[in-house]
Amino acid sequence: MIEGDGIGREVVPEGLRVLEAAGRRYDIAFSWQHFDWSCQTYLKTGRMMPADGLDQLRGFDAIYLGAVGYPGVPDHVSLWGLLIPIRRAFQLYVNLRPVRLLRGVDSPVKGFPPGSIDLCVVRENNEGEYSEVGGRLYRNSDAELAVQETVFTRRGCDRIMRYAFDLARTRKRHVTSATKSNGIIHTMPFWDERFSVAAKEFPDIRTDQYHIDILAAHFVRHPDWFDVVVASNLFGDMLSDLSAAVVGSIGLAPSANINPERQYPSMFEPVHGSAPDIAGKGIANPIAQIWSGAMMLQHLRESTAARAVENAVEKVLARPDIHTPDLGGKASTRDVGDAVAHEISAASEP
Ligand SMILES: NC(=O)c1ccc[n+]([C@@H]2O[C@H](COP(=O)([O-])OP(=O)(O)OC[C@H]3O[C@@H](n4cnc5c(N)ncnc54)[C@H](O)[C@@H]3O)[C@@H](O)[C@H]2O)c1
Repeated sequence: MIEGDGIGREVVPEGLRVLEAAGRRYDIAFSWQHFDWSCQTYLKTGRMMPADGLDQLRGFDAIYLGAVGYPGVPDHVSLWGLLIPIRRAFQLYVNLRPVRLLRGVDSPVKGFPPGSIDLCVVRENNEGEYSEVGGRLYRNSDAELAVQETVFTRRGCDRIMRYAFDLARTRKRHVTSATKSNGIIHTMPFWDERFSVAAKEFPDIRTDQYHIDILAAHFVRHPDWFDVVVASNLFGDMLSDLSAAVVGSIGLAPSANINPERQYPSMFEPVHGSAPDIAGKGIANPIAQIWSGAMMLQHLRESTAARAVENAVEKVLARPDIHTPDLGGKASTRDVGDAVAHEISAASEP
């Protein structure tokens, strides 16, 4: 467990409270190890995590993360010092981000009843636009330039697309690809080619593809069109914040960084960051963190407990008196964690 920075330190304890309640209710004994790796650690030691940090994590079943990043440490330092090395070293090439409009939550997009928006963004999590290939030249002169390369591999595209198609088989059998092959002339046509190869392997799945610009518009106007949306690292990142806003708040959006082969620990964290603007006030919405815990239970093959956490989240969200300020309410982070934990303890026999 890595709380990280900012509201990570406030929402992770609520996630643990809920997981422990689920553990008591469904007979799961958790053993947690706390790693105090954060921007504060960086300011003290010059590193976000120790040099052998990845080795320390390697033997665990799963990693439960809050968020990293805080003013005073450049964001690329905090992200590339902890989150991205974990995602890459452990081949967490799937970033799964479910999006659901739940009862009791007021969406800024009108006319969609609860349940009518239910999609999953499957974001490629190991390559793409987030690459270390590139550099800077002629610093501090008029000729200064920066080059950043995008890296798409056949292996990287094929495995994320297959994951998306397999996932669609458990859902509404529809996969949408996010592309931009009109403007980005090498990598994105390659992405489209690999998508059509994957689609041929799954003839029972309906497919479509949109350029990212109009896809973003459709996410707002027609979020009910989508089931599984497969996207590159950058596009998937942006679509998941957008879709989180469409269903009410970034504070509701969970995510799982998955190594499907289970060779390494997978990592579960909310989509949101450390929110320095509200950190320390006790008002962050812990639902994204709690729901990420449910995804962790699912991955650990504790599906009954996972479903119980999701049901409890749905019940609590249906009550506006337990909404945090991001949803227009007055409840605290702790109030929401307590309410979800209470629902789990009170749940009837599975
Ligand atoms: N996975 C991660 O660790 C991760 C992800 C994104 C951003 N970050 C880092 O977090 C820091 C802040 O980034 P940002 O401001 O772009 O994004 P952010 O997600 O932290 O915050 C964006 C906005 O959403 C609000 N918000 C976020 N989570 C919320 C919650 N649970 N409840 C209520 N409101 C919530 C914030 O108050 C803020 O107004 C940066 O250092 C960034 O690099 C880390």
